[in-house]
Amino acid sequence: MASTSKVRLLVLGTGAMAANHARLFMADPRVDVVAATDVDAARAAAFAEKHGITTSFGSLDAALAWGKFDAVTNVTPDAVHHPTTMKVIAAKKHVLCEKPLAETFALADQMATAAEKASLINMVNLSYRNVPALQKARSLIAAGEIGDIRHVEASYRQSWLVGKHWGDWRSEPMWLWRLSEKHGSKGVLGDVGIHILDFATFAIGMMPVSLQARVKTFAKAEGDRIGEYPLDANDSAAMQVEFGNGALGVIHASRFMTGYGNVLKLDVFGTSGAIEINHGLDWTEIRMCSGEDVHTQSWRRVQADPVPTIHTRFIDAVVSGENGEPSFRRGADLQAILDMCLTEDAGRAVAVKSTR
Ligand SMILES: NC(=O)c1ccc[n+]([C@@H]2O[C@H](COP(=O)([O-])OP(=O)(O)OC[C@H]3O[C@@H](n4cnc5c(N)ncnc54)[C@H](O)[C@@H]3O)[C@@H](O)[C@H]2O)c1
Repeated sequence: MASTSKVRLLVLGTGAMAANHARLFMADPRVDVVAATDVDAARAAAFAEKHGITTSFGSLDAALAWGKFDAVTNVTPDAVHHPTTMKVIAAKKHVLCEKPLAETFALADQMATAAEKASLINMVNLSYRNVPALQKARSLIAAGEIGDIRHVEASYRQSWLVGKHWGDWRSEPMWLWRLSEKHGSKGVLGDVGIHILDFATFAIGMMPVSLQARVKTFAKAEGDRIGEYPLDANDSAAMQVEFGNGALGVIHASRFMTGYGNVLKLDVFGTSGAIEINHGLDWTEIRMCSGEDVHTQSWRRVQADPVPTIHTRFIDAVVSGENGEPSFRRGADLQAILDMCLTEDAGRAVAVKSTR
């Protein structure tokens, strides 16, 4: 598109996460957030008013009929990403979609294929890509600073099924859909398992070539249900993987990691060094042991410079016409692995290879 005109952006879905998207896009002088859309028209209107957006719609169809936008940020619930994004692509609009890209690999693959065929910018909001330490770790590992990778340990630790720091899921309905497959949840795997899988595999630049996984739904309420919500979605998932170079990995995600509110941990061990990242809600530590330090097991802190957000890089991509990462294809590849974790026989070879 012409570099002098602003990118006209539509916010699709105006719930909790949409405010974050609006704030990030509105901070970019290359963007005009022109409209907000939600199936709840009143919510869309209130969101538009709050954020100073001039136009709002009560359906995607109405917004598409209007059509005065170049790109969409899709912040609808997980199961709505596929049907809405397919319409947006058919209307030839660029799209940034929330994670997980879709409910299954088959649907995510359709989205990636359609966007690629239409030559549209397509990115997925794997938001931990915005963590400078992750980008630093990837570049150090790619430069060979820790040698050949042998082991990876990664975990996404939450404890909202134990602590009341985000409210009480036993009495507050807003948490219950996340515990119920009937209500569209893929449990901890779709919620944050996808983040830690991306975090670990992006850092090392390799995808698993084989995988075994266990997922677990713990008994936590009488009859395993609360009102109309069967509590059947997975609470914890553990993957054991092998990477293309023979390295072994353990990737774990849980809502029962007591004492941790929202922490991502990654350890990568190589033949000549190791890197460790701990990332919480508003803090990050990255340490490294390499060179002569491997003989004394001494660790030093690593400086990680700020990196552009996915939202900035999405606009870079729309302006330049060159797609950015993480792309829909990456979102689909991650989904293929999540699908495998949910099959009864999860000890199978993995065919996907994207590392960007
Ligand atoms: N990247 C991250 O770190 C991160 C963090 C939180 C949430 N998310 C993702 O963001 C998405 C939204 O989460 P949320 O917490 O904002 O959910 P939410 O339920 O608060 O908001 C979703 C909104 O979408 C609207 N909606 C539903 N169907 C629609 C349709 N067909 N057209 C238009 N609007 C529709 C709903 O009415 C609701 O207002 C989810 O996919 C979630 O996984 C990502």
